[in-house]
Amino acid sequence: MNRVVISGVGTEIPQASISNEELVASFNLWVDRENERRRATGGDPLQKSDSEFIVYASGVRNRHVLVLDGILDPDRMTPRIPPRADDELSVEAEFGLAAARRALDHAGIAGNDIDLVICAASHQQRPYPALAIEIQSEIGAKGAGFDMNLGCSSAAAALHVAFNLVRAGAHRRVLIVTPEIISGHLNFRDRQTHFIFGDAAVAMVVEATGEGEARAGRLEVLDTRSWTQFSNAIRTNFGFLVRAGQEDTSVVQMEGNMIKQVGNKVFKEVTVAGHRFIVGFLAEHGLTPKDMRRFWLHQANARMNAMILKLAFGHEVGHDRAPMVLDRLGNTAAAGAIVALSENHEDMQPGELGLLCAFGAGYSIGAALLRMQ
Ligand SMILES: CC(C)(COP(=O)(O)OP(=O)(O)OC[C@H]1O[C@@H](n2cnc3c(N)ncnc32)[C@H](O)[C@@H]1OP(=O)(O)O)[C@@H](O)C(=O)NCCC(=O)NCCS
Repeated sequence: MNRVVISGVGTEIPQASISNEELVASFNLWVDRENERRRATGGDPLQKSDSEFIVYASGVRNRHVLVLDGILDPDRMTPRIPPRADDELSVEAEFGLAAARRALDHAGIAGNDIDLVICAASHQQRPYPALAIEIQSEIGAKGAGFDMNLGCSSAAAALHVAFNLVRAGAHRRVLIVTPEIISGHLNFRDRQTHFIFGDAAVAMVVEATGEGEARAGRLEVLDTRSWTQFSNAIRTNFGFLVRAGQEDTSVVQMEGNMIKQVGNKVFKEVTVAGHRFIVGFLAEHGLTPKDMRRFWLHQANARMNAMILKLAFGHEVGHDRAPMVLDRLGNTAAAGAIVALSENHEDMQPGELGLLCAFGAGYSIGAALLRMQ
C-alpha cells in the first residue's frame, strides 16, 4: 500500500460579495411588492427576512458570488450568467480550473503529472460530457476524469475515493476539483434558504509518497470514511425529468425545483449523526477528539459546529481548534471545509493530527484523518 499525501490545495473565492443587509434589503423589497399583489388577489402575505436573525441562526454575515448581476434585482433575483457556446470553456469548469491551477502550483507539479481528475460538487452544470474531462483536457492531464456528487460531502467523498485509489496503486496523482456555484440554483425568494449559501471553488492534489518519504508542510492522509442515510430534508428536484412532468413544455418550471431544506430538522439530525460519526471514526484509530490539533468542519452553521464540538470535547472549543470561514463566505457546500483547511494548516507542527469532516444532503458525512508531515 502507498502512503498518501495532500500535496496541494487551491481555492478560488469570487470577488463579488453580498452582505446580509444587502441581501435582506433586496428580499424585503420583493416581499413588499409581492404582498401588494397578494392583497389584491386575496393571497396570504409573506414574511420579511431579517439580518439579525440570519447572524443569530446561522453565523453567516456575508457571502461571495460568482456573478452578482441580477441577484439583488427584485425583478430577477437570479445571477445573470450568459450561456456559452459548446466549443467555449464552460462556466463551472473555468471556476474549478482557477482553484485547480493553484492546487497544482502548491503541489509543485504540472497538469500532465495528474493521472485522474475528479470533479466533485453539489451541483454540476450538465450531466455530460463530465466536467472533470473538460478540466482534464484544459490542464493536459493524462488518464481519466469523472464527476461525483454527494451534496456538501462531495469533496470529502472524492477524497475517500482518491485516497483509496492512490493507496492501492490504481492512480499515482489525483486532482479533486470542487467548483460550487450555488447561487445559480438557490431560490433567493425563499426566506428559509436565501441567506445560507455562497460560491467558492477548491481543489486538492492527492498523491502517493515513496516509502518513508515525507514532504514538510503537507498533510498525510491516514484514513478516510464515508457515511450516508437517506433523507428528504435537503433536496432539489431539478433534473432531466422536470420538463417531462409538465403539460406546457415550452419553459422549464423552476418553482419548487430549487434547493429546499427543513433547516431545523437537518440541524438536529445531522448534529447528532455528525457527533457519532466523528467519535466513532476516531475511536477506530484509538483516538479521541482531544487528540486532534484541528477540525476542519463543514461550514454550514456556526451553532451546529459549536454543538458538535461541545458534544465531542465536553466544553466549548475556539476557532483556533476549529476554524470558521462561513461568517464571511456563507455555506459554500462541499468547498467550505476545504477552504477552512487551506487557510488553516500551515502553522501545524510535524506529527500533529487534524480531522476534515463534511456533512450535508443525502444525508451524507465524509471525513479524512490527516497528519502534518
Ligand atoms: C437554516 C437555519 C439557519 C435556520 O435556523 P433555525 O434556528 O433552525 O430556524 P427555524 O427554521 O427553526 O425558524 C425559526 C424562526 O425563524 C423564522 N425565520 C426563518 N427564516 C427567517 C429569516 N430569513 N428571517 C427572519 N426570520 C426567519 C421562522 O419563521 C421561525 O419563526 P417562528 O419561530 O415564529 O415560527 C438552520 O436550521 C440551519 O442552518 N440548519 C442546518 C442546515 C445545514 O446544515 N444544512 C446542511 C446542508 S448544506
